[in-house]
Amino acid sequence: MSAEVAVVNTQGKGPQEIVTDVVVIGAGAAGLMCAAQAGARGRRVLVLDHANKAGKKILMSGGGNCNFTNLYTEPANFLSENTHFCKSALARYTQWDFIALVNKHRVPYHEKKLGQLFCDNKSIDILKMLLAECEAVGATVQLNTSVEKIECIPRVDAMSGEGAQVAEGVVASNSTPAKATKADKRAKAAKPSKGASAAPAAPPNDGYLLHTSIGPVRCQSLVIATGGLSIPSMGATGFGYDVARQFGHRVLPTRAGLVPFTITDQLKDLCTELSGTSVDCLVSCNGKSFRENILFTHRGLSGPAILQISSYWLPGQAVEINLLPDRSVPDWLAQQRLDRPNAELKTLLGEVFTKKMAQLLCEQWFPSKPIKQYTHAEMEAIADKLSAWQVVPAGTEGYRTAEVTLGGVDTREVSSKTMESLKSPGLYFIGEVLDVTGHLGGFNFQWAWASAHAAAQFV
Ligand code: FDA
Repeated sequence: MSAEVAVVNTQGKGPQEIVTDVVVIGAGAAGLMCAAQAGARGRRVLVLDHANKAGKKILMSGGGNCNFTNLYTEPANFLSENTHFCKSALARYTQWDFIALVNKHRVPYHEKKLGQLFCDNKSIDILKMLLAECEAVGATVQLNTSVEKIECIPRVDAMSGEGAQVAEGVVASNSTPAKATKADKRAKAAKPSKGASAAPAAPPNDGYLLHTSIGPVRCQSLVIATGGLSIPSMGATGFGYDVARQFGHRVLPTRAGLVPFTITDQLKDLCTELSGTSVDCLVSCNGKSFRENILFTHRGLSGPAILQISSYWLPGQAVEINLLPDRSVPDWLAQQRLDRPNAELKTLLGEVFTKKMAQLLCEQWFPSKPIKQYTHAEMEAIADKLSAWQVVPAGTEGYRTAEVTLGGVDTREVSSKTMESLKSPGLYFIGEVLDVTGHLGGFNFQWAWASAHAAAQFV
């Protein structure tokens, strides 16, 4: 435990009570960043995580090389019911700020494609960097610790009225009233922002008391950085949503995002046969399109274009896949018919796809014959299938393999300037637990850094 975090006795009995300025629950990307930055402001910070290791998702990210940001980050790269919410934090802590931090720690990196920055070595470089930043400012990271209960401590000066009722059994003997000036400053900063609905006046409080597996912990500011539901085997839980609900927040329905599709109908055989084949495509759904590779798998479809569109797809809907996005397929087929009338369709398709894929498409979709023998209607049907293939996925692989969770804590009840709850002063939500989800390509980490930085200036 860091010397920066005071440890006191509660009335001489029971486990020691820890008193600190800030508790961050979740030692992931957002939590560590927030701890480091709040610590740099002189705040005593304690990070609690139930996992046995910090930053497990950082370690597994980017195929082990952590795609830590994107050069072209902008608000349009994020999904949220409240599209304005992410703008302020992203503008105040940009990809360039994070790159400066990476450079300061001499972490080697490269742009892979589309502005995506990856570590040259392993993701652990980013985790080590964040832990070093925490250590440098005395922020303590306490692993293997579960939080069983959270209580809000009413301000002492509010206890003569209704607050006294709530306070029963909560305030320990050594409670220190928060300075009115700090609470007032916070209340001012947490005014509803653009896109945030005006919340009813929140009751004043004197911080939070946490019942944890290491004993009671008291803090002025509580930051929830527990992420989303994806990859439960890595320690993901719905804890942050439960805390949000406890303090009167709306939690928008969650679903897996950046996730492969499963296919169970007659297409399954094609996917299985082509498993491992990757094709550059334009994939569209609900007015959104992504141009990248799709990957056939034993379970269905994956690859970057599929992961991207999965965040926009809803069950039962069709996804449109243009398998030949660089050409007008009707024009190309018509030209082939003129130039090479005796060429078989299988041969022509074998020039733009793998031989195996051409063969399978002909077996399953349109029996191969010399191109001159197709009727006009058949030519149209072939062009249509190749340029606007309609696929109705059975579902997604779910949280087991999803990179992110869509939905979450409704940002209309959170300050976009401070990330503070508009319902309960001193409570903050950062990172993926919020209803802000980035596209594939380093955007989700950039949101974790930016939202963490925003909160860290006010906790
Ligand atoms: P994060 O999930 O990182 O951290 C949450 C922390 O809270 C964890 O340490 C967890 O143990 C802890 N926690 C949860 N419940 C708790 C509880 N009840 N009590 C105590 N602690 C609790 N993004 C990107 O930009 N580039 C990339 O390359 C990738 N790659 C990638 C690969 C894979 C396989 C996945 C699953 C995800 C990605 N992502 C990504 C997404 C990215 O990892 C994700 O958006 C961020 O880690 C979110 O950061 P948070 O800090 O919000 O949550």
